[in-house]
Amino acid sequence: MGRVPVAVLISGRGSNLSALIRAAQARPYPAEIRLVLSNRAEAGGLAIAAEAGIETGVVDHRGRSREAFEAELGDRIGAAGVSLICLAGFMRLLTPGFVEARRNQILNIHPSLLPAFPGLDTHARALEAGVRISGCTVHFVSPEMDEGPIIAQSAVPVAIGDSPASLADRVLKAEHRLYPMALALVAQGRVRVVGKRALISGEPPLPDGLFVPTPD
Ligand code: GAR
Repeated sequence: MGRVPVAVLISGRGSNLSALIRAAQARPYPAEIRLVLSNRAEAGGLAIAAEAGIETGVVDHRGRSREAFEAELGDRIGAAGVSLICLAGFMRLLTPGFVEARRNQILNIHPSLLPAFPGLDTHARALEAGVRISGCTVHFVSPEMDEGPIIAQSAVPVAIGDSPASLADRVLKAEHRLYPMALALVAQGRVRVVGKRALISGEPPLPDGLFVPTPD
């Protein structure tokens, strides 16, 4: 079976994009990153993609309507013939129309154990709430921000004296392991959504590591 073509949408440095590219370059991997789009021309991830020989593009959201922005996004994505979209630090909320038209075809990664702490300043809010365990979540995108059926999660313990930055660093390492694994599950056709839940068929993809990675 051919590899599933994927577009990745970014807004910034692109470390999760980089993890997805590395995974997709390894064989066998069931998905192929075919297009990287950013809403910001200065996003560091664009250079990472270009270096890997992947088509890139900038679709600026500024100075026009959300619908016009998304129409161009949709055109670029359609022209690339991809069947899945990964949001990787893409900091724009997509409209219900865009999301509904691609139901269970858009994945997002968020640096918390959703449904806790959606939105911005995630790590500061987790520390403020005094949680002992944080982590990251890969989920299908629904129209609400950082919401939708959960595909995979990694737990990351909070350390005494953690700052938002130190916790973010630790969670980010888990993100880089989790996203390629979650995308692989979807690309293999092993994830189906029933009600609000994403169910995974077959054997768990990795020993518990998928859900609770050990530190590097
Ligand atoms: C990541 O931590 C990702 O989980 C987060 O932005 C960062 C992007 O970093 N996404 C969100 O907060 C989405 N709500 P990266 O550009 O290095 O991948």
